[in-house]
Formats: sequence, structure tokens, C-alpha cells
Amino acid sequence: MKPTILANEQETIAFGKQLANGCLNYLSMHDSVIVIYLIGDLGAGKTTLSRGFLQQLGHTGAVKSPTYTLVEPYQFANFSVYHFDLYRLNDPEELEFMGIREYFSSRSICLIEWPEQAQGVLPKADIEIHLTYLALERTVCVKAKSDIGQAIINLL
Ligand SMILES: Nc1ncnc2c1ncn2[C@@H]1O[C@H](COP(=O)(O)OP(=O)(O)OP(=O)(O)O)[C@@H](O)[C@H]1O
Ligand SMILES: [Mg+2]
Repeated sequence: MKPTILANEQETIAFGKQLANGCLNYLSMHDSVIVIYLIGDLGAGKTTLSRGFLQQLGHTGAVKSPTYTLVEPYQFANFSVYHFDLYRLNDPEELEFMGIREYFSSRSICLIEWPEQAQGVLPKADIEIHLTYLALERTVCVKAKSDIGQAIINLL
């Protein structure tokens, strides 16, 4: 997908909602785990995108980056979303101790900020979202990294 400009916070939220719809669509047809890496500098909009994503699925409360707890679970009617922020992960093994395998079991969507911090421990991405700073706005670029990811992008 070509890089797209997100002119303000609302557009980042709207993009997160669009991505959520694609994932919902996919999960309505397949039992699967969807792994989404959110890649970009501090303040690039990863949590903002996750907020739009979760709101679209019907979550009404706050969405904060789980900077200290590393992961925040959200339960929906027939699937779960796990929102990770691995910025403060010291040792990728910590994730093994947390039992992350369970998070990557059937019918879940994993949104992962700072996946670079856990290379070699995390499952591979189905979709990578790259967020980049411009002067004020951001750009977003979406890359399919698996057949599942490509199918979801085709549904957007
Ligand atoms: N498209 C946009 N244009 C301008 N500002 C934006 C845009 N999207 C998000 N922001 C703003 O950028 C700020 C940082 O966003 P956010 O917390 O989502 O970043 P992050 O990538 O999660 O950062 P961190 O790596 O620290 O977790 C917020 O104030 C948010 O409102
Ligand atoms: Mg964040």
C-alpha cells in the first residue's frame, strides 16, 4: 500500500477503525490469530491508532499504552485483542515468563507497539503498520507480511 498522509489525530483514529473493520471481516470468515506490528518513533501515533481500532470494536473505556504492564487484554464477544507496548521490555525472555503463547492462541488480534524490542520471541507479523513523522502530520504505510495479512488488506 502507498504511504498515506494522516493529517491529524482524528485521521489516525479513523485509520485504526478502518483496520479494525478489515480484521473483523476476516475473523467473521476464519478462525485465526492476527498479529499486527505497529512500528514508528516515540509519539508517531501507535497508541492513537490502537485507540481507534478498539473503539471500532465497541470498547468504550480508555485505551492507554500498557507501558509498565507490557500488555492490556480486551475481551469481545467471540475474540480477544491484546495491546502490547514493549518499549520498556528489558529482556525478551520476560515475555516467555508472562506466558505470551496464550495471547497468540486462536481468535485473537495482537496489536504490538515496539515489536523490535522482542525480536526472536514474538510470532511473525501478518501486517506491519509503519508510522512516520512529517512536520505536524504523520504518514502511514501498511505492509502485508503473510497471506492472512494480505487477505485483511484486501478487505480494507
Ligand atoms: N496524524 C496525526 N497528526 C498529528 N498528531 C497526531 C497524529 N496522530 C496522533 N497524533 C498525536 O501524537 C501524539 C502521540 O501519539 P501516540 O501516543 O499515539 O504515539 P505512540 O506512537 O503510541 O508513542 P509511544 O512510542 O510513546 O507509545 C498524541 O498527542 C496524538 O494526539
Ligand atoms: Mg504508545
